[in-house]
Amino acid sequence: MFSLLRLAVPLLLLASAAVTALPKVSRTGKYLYTEDGDRFFIKGVAYQTQHPVVPGTSFVDNLADGPSCTRDVEFFQKLGINAIRSYFANSSLDHDSCMSTLSDAGIYVILDLTLPLNGSIDTTQPAWGTNVLDQYLRTIDTFEKYDNVLAYNIGNEVIKSDATQSAPFIMAAARDIRAYLNSISSSSLVAYAAIDGGADFVDNTADYLACDRSADSATASLDLYGLNNYEWCGNDTVTTFNNLNARFANYDIAAYFSEFGSENCNPNPRVWTEVPVMFDSNMTDVWSGGLAFSYFPDTSKGKNFGLMTPSSDSSSFVTTPEFDNLAAQYNAVTFVKTPTKTSVSNVQPSACPQATPSSWPVSNTLPPTADDAACGCLANALSCVFTPSTPDYTDIVGDLTGIACGLLIQNGGSCADISADGAAGVYGDIGMCDPTIKLSYVFTQYYEQSQRIPAACGFNGNATVNTNAGYNGVAAAVKSCIPSPSAVFTPRAPPVLVPVQPTGSSGAGKSAGGNSNTNTNSGRGARDLLVGASAVLGSMIVGMLWTLA
Ligand SMILES: *[C@@H]1O[C@H](CO)[C@@H](O)[C@H](O)[C@H]1NC(C)=O
Ligand SMILES: *[C@@H]1O[C@H](CO)[C@@H](O)[C@H](O)[C@H]1NC(C)=O
Ligand SMILES: *[C@@H]1O[C@H](CO)[C@@H](O)[C@H](O)[C@H]1NC(C)=O
Ligand SMILES: *[C@@H]1O[C@H](CO)[C@@H](O)[C@H](O)[C@H]1NC(C)=O
Ligand SMILES: *[C@@H]1O[C@H](CO)[C@@H](O)[C@H](O)[C@H]1NC(C)=O
Repeated sequence: MFSLLRLAVPLLLLASAAVTALPKVSRTGKYLYTEDGDRFFIKGVAYQTQHPVVPGTSFVDNLADGPSCTRDVEFFQKLGINAIRSYFANSSLDHDSCMSTLSDAGIYVILDLTLPLNGSIDTTQPAWGTNVLDQYLRTIDTFEKYDNVLAYNIGNEVIKSDATQSAPFIMAAARDIRAYLNSISSSSLVAYAAIDGGADFVDNTADYLACDRSADSATASLDLYGLNNYEWCGNDTVTTFNNLNARFANYDIAAYFSEFGSENCNPNPRVWTEVPVMFDSNMTDVWSGGLAFSYFPDTSKGKNFGLMTPSSDSSSFVTTPEFDNLAAQYNAVTFVKTPTKTSVSNVQPSACPQATPSSWPVSNTLPPTADDAACGCLANALSCVFTPSTPDYTDIVGDLTGIACGLLIQNGGSCADISADGAAGVYGDIGMCDPTIKLSYVFTQYYEQSQRIPAACGFNGNATVNTNAGYNGVAAAVKSCIPSPSAVFTPRAPPVLVPVQPTGSSGAGKSAGGNSNTNTNSGRGARDLLVGASAVLGSMIVGMLWTLA
């Protein structure tokens, strides 16, 4: 018996060691701590295969590729990292293998909930709609079973210095995603990755995302502010970040560099001498580490940001001198231990930046929670509905919404109900619905305005009369389906997608989803205006893909 016990104990220990989950990480004030009270720093890399995404093609979901993950974890361990950031995940794929390989290696994942093309809040025509909300929730539902999801990014470089009107929508997303995570007892952090730029813009954005919203019944909801920072160049000196540090000295929430590693001064290969500076006590009172860009080859404006490269015969994946330089720097880091968790507390967040027409034309009134039930109810009650003839209808929805609104306005109507204005803080009752439902709503208004003559519900075969809809008119449908248009509540798990089949349609059903990403052109213009901001170079895959699209 004695010997049995002796044997049993080590076996039990072994078994429990094998299933030990990574410690949860939470925020107190502006610091991150693990469950055992240690300060937590992000020391990681961006992990996303660059892939030009055009409508009809798919992005690469690296976390669904078990064999590559297994290959790459060995390199991650050589780098000495504890976190990676992945930019796109497909919630219908299996991520078990990769996520558990990473977890076993002590590596946390920061996951962007956004997808290329229409899977994000739009920069110039922002909305917080059921389509994007549901995409985010489906991804969370897929990943919440893993113990190593450190944070979910609700947006990447969405708010731009010359297009700040998306900020209230980003904040609404943070509010609703935080509420959802709380409702499923998730400890994952809600994060955003900001583009760098002029000090006023960066500071206003950062303050807006962290400020006190208790007056609006919404709690301060972003946990982790990320700055894609490409300020450091080659062998810069320790004072490089002094200005930035001074500006963020009193920031209320946790912050980190969601990307870093500049190629601006051709430091070929990059020496990564910012690493010891970033993890030095002078910076760690503000910043909780960062993510080097990028593990995979990633070209932008003639530079290659990859730490890895295909071997000359393309049969394998090998390290670059930059990898070795980063590994040397990362492995030499000792994490600062102060302040201790018991010595800090959550602070009352600062007041929100006031809207100013010249520098920060952004309302502090946030849009409502996107409401699947209300929008679904409305969709069924609309008498003239959008029936896409192609599965890639995103661009068509944008074009048709413009055309239908033009007709409606010509006849004395208005598209105010589907619009959302983040500068003025004015949100139409239908602004939270899927772009296809918004389009059907406009079709229906025009159809009713035209006394329901069949020709008014045609739009070259893009619209079909829904004979199941009642005849009480669209205003009555809005009233009964959306009784509280500005409601803020905890979203529930997203509904299973059930295509709405209008009578007479030949199977080209309308499914929930679709975002009129009509601003691709203006988005491209806005990007080009940003030359000079070093962050643009290091730049964001989403933005780059939009340019390619
Ligand atoms: C996700 O993966 C499924 C299965 O491969 C595919 O059909 C679907 O198009 C993918 N979704 C996206 C958004 O790429
Ligand atoms: C530390 O920060 C202070 C204040 O920003 C600055 O004056 C000083 O140069 C910094 N020292 C180092 C070693 O970075
Ligand atoms: C950085 O400094 C090291 C050591 O002095 C030198 O070998 C290297 O060439 C420098 N790199 C750059 C990009 O300036
Ligand atoms: C639908 O609308 C698009 C965009 O206006 C147009 O190009 C197309 O011809 C219309 N009809 C069909 C059947 O797609
Ligand atoms: C993006 O558009 C595609 C069709 O083009 C649609 O299937 C998908 O649901 C849309 N995603 C969002 C978030 O609107």
